[in-house]
Amino acid sequence: MAEADIPRPGAGTGFVAAPLRHDSAGAHVAGTARYVDDMPEAPGTLHLAFGLSTQAHARIEAIDLDAVRAAPGVVAIFTAADIPGVNDVSPFAGDDRLFAEGSALYVGQPLFAVVATSTKAARVAARLAKVDYTPLPALLTIAAARAAGSLIEPSQRMGRGDVPAALDAAPHRLAGRIAMGGQEHFYLEGQAALALPGEDGQVHVLSSTQHPSEIQHLIAKVLGRSHADVTVEVRRMGGAFGGKETQAAAFAVACALAATRTGRPVKVRADRDDDMVMTGKRHAFEIDYDVGFDDAGRIAGIRLELASRCGATTDLSPAINDRAMFHSDNSYYFPAVEILSHRLKTNTVSDTAFRGFGGPQGMVGIERVMDAIAARLGRDPLAVRQANLYGPGRDVTPYGMTVEDNVAPELIAELAEAADYTARAEAVAAFNAGHRILKKGLALTPVKFGISFTTTHLNQAGALVLVYADGSIQINHGGTEMGQGLMVKVAQIVAEVFQVPVERVRVTSTRTDKVPNTSATAASSGADLNGMAAFNAAQTVRERLAAFAAEKFGCDAGSVRFTPDGVVAGDEILPFDALCRMAHLGRVSLSATGFYATPRIHYDRATHSGRPFLYFAYGAALSEVVIDTLTGEHKVLAVDILHDVGRSLNPAIDLGQVEGGFIQGMGWLTTEELVFADDGRLLTHAPSTYKIPTASDRPARMTIRLWERGRNAEATIHRSKAVGEPPLMLAISVLSALTHAVAAAVPGKGLPDLDAPATPERVLMAIEALRRRG
Ligand code: MTE
Ligand code: MOS
Repeated sequence: MAEADIPRPGAGTGFVAAPLRHDSAGAHVAGTARYVDDMPEAPGTLHLAFGLSTQAHARIEAIDLDAVRAAPGVVAIFTAADIPGVNDVSPFAGDDRLFAEGSALYVGQPLFAVVATSTKAARVAARLAKVDYTPLPALLTIAAARAAGSLIEPSQRMGRGDVPAALDAAPHRLAGRIAMGGQEHFYLEGQAALALPGEDGQVHVLSSTQHPSEIQHLIAKVLGRSHADVTVEVRRMGGAFGGKETQAAAFAVACALAATRTGRPVKVRADRDDDMVMTGKRHAFEIDYDVGFDDAGRIAGIRLELASRCGATTDLSPAINDRAMFHSDNSYYFPAVEILSHRLKTNTVSDTAFRGFGGPQGMVGIERVMDAIAARLGRDPLAVRQANLYGPGRDVTPYGMTVEDNVAPELIAELAEAADYTARAEAVAAFNAGHRILKKGLALTPVKFGISFTTTHLNQAGALVLVYADGSIQINHGGTEMGQGLMVKVAQIVAEVFQVPVERVRVTSTRTDKVPNTSATAASSGADLNGMAAFNAAQTVRERLAAFAAEKFGCDAGSVRFTPDGVVAGDEILPFDALCRMAHLGRVSLSATGFYATPRIHYDRATHSGRPFLYFAYGAALSEVVIDTLTGEHKVLAVDILHDVGRSLNPAIDLGQVEGGFIQGMGWLTTEELVFADDGRLLTHAPSTYKIPTASDRPARMTIRLWERGRNAEATIHRSKAVGEPPLMLAISVLSALTHAVAAAVPGKGLPDLDAPATPERVLMAIEALRRRG
């Protein structure tokens, strides 16, 4: 995209709102950006591999490691018995073992780790263990776990009003079900860690993680040491997408254990197949709905029952399933509502965070309901959606939060107009009337996504700004870079405070010894939280500089101005670096910490009510697809997106996030399919069988615009809005459009039950099912 085409909402002084490229763009392309595996290896570095369970559920009678120990290059082996502290790498529930003890709970669960002189030697040796299992019954599917009553926590309920009465009284009623699969993160850089042993039992760990503090705390817990003995550092990840929020822990902790025990550096770089088998994924969901509505399609009452496969342990499933409930309304008002949520414990790898964190699954459910209502009434689906939007007097969510910042009606109207919805819907109908084999579908769906961690205490961040005597600046904060452009945004924020070129701000690694007790970079709140903390830190240094300049030049501190041309104090104007040098000689502290805690949020999980989000991010997408009714294949022909990022901190980065998020969501809903065999093995554990979108799957025509009127009603950093996750859900428009295309293949039979991912097989089966429908 040409720079001139990139809108600059709020572009003003300094560098906030400028469409700067990613700070590592050049290094990414040149191959000089360093990831964990690129760090120069110290002599004597050992390589780690895990021995994995081959059983979905079994008692472990004995593990014979003799052949592993005897294998060439092997230096040491570690099992649960070698853990000095607690055998736990879970985020909070205490149920994720670093190494299995007693029983194996899923295929791919680590049983032990081996360190050897090369990666290959470690991998070869790890496969030589002889494990004596007694198989136990395994629950692999949502249905099996439901039948057995196997849950990771009690089922949750939220809602209000008399739903049975509302359903009975409504002029129309329908019920149905939609199922959707999970999703593999497929970050390009696999899980990786490098542990460097230090003095006196200390350890420094480089980890590809979204959550350095949690890794630090878990290493301390497993080693039986204090947090202060452990330093975790992350320069960048080669993609994470939620898959390195908790899933990086086992890799980093195992390396730390082996490094402190052997006294040598220990590194792990997961093989792609192992990575896919060992790490958690997006949760698969089944959603049942029962809805009552009027002649306009307006919902009077709705009952939603959500069931998800959580895998063998708790991980983040409670919060993820809560978020699915929070987004079961998407942008729509329900006068009477009941949302039930079952979190099923299965003998599969524990499912985890993935962009949207349960929100996408909840939204897929209600968007299917919208299409089903429209089909039943023979009305335009967009009109039904618009009739149900939040609005004045209809503005309270199922969890009791008033939607104060609702821009969905105007944003949707603007997109419908700009993308010519009405004319294109007519053109699609005409095309379908004139074509027997190819059928088109069109859908415009909205997104309203709540921003904040729903676990309130996580909404805090710290930063450390260091201004050096030559006027160059280092910025440290708790946020991590995974490709999303957090670092360039925070650098822009700091450059703006001092009115210096952004090149003067050096982005550094995220380190637990610079900023302690941080939250995961997740929930899309990286820039909201860390940007504000860095802003506060920079403000403190700026105030000190202003006070110094005022004293030096005999003016009022409040009158000192930082401008792109220099710092103006009284009659003087001097370059920023000159002021820094003078302030240093004047014995002024030029470093400061900053802190931020999100205001206005609270939530009572016992009653599922409160104000869990500071604000909502909004967007809408119109997708046009065509299917081949003989093969079930499809193409996404055109996509028009209008997305609200408030006042963009960096429109170039934000457009990239919208596009990437959309494509990733499209992959989830169309081609990416996780297939588990009857014995619990993941069959799709490599790119040969697991199909993520490629460059050629990008829609031929894709028009993405940031909403120019966007402005955060809350006092976020420069009135921006989070952008990391919300755009993924714009891709629900593709599933909806495919559903309409299938319906057009067999006219007069209503809406098909097309589940996701809408692979060619599922599209064909949905057509067949419609043909057989009475
Ligand atoms: N973009 C890239 N390029 N790579 C990623 O791994 N992760 C997504 C999103 N965008 C991701 C990404 C997820 S899951 C989240 S929560 C946010 O980025 C996290 O970063 P932020 O809070 O700074 O937006
Ligand atoms: Mo994102 S799923 O919150 O890491």
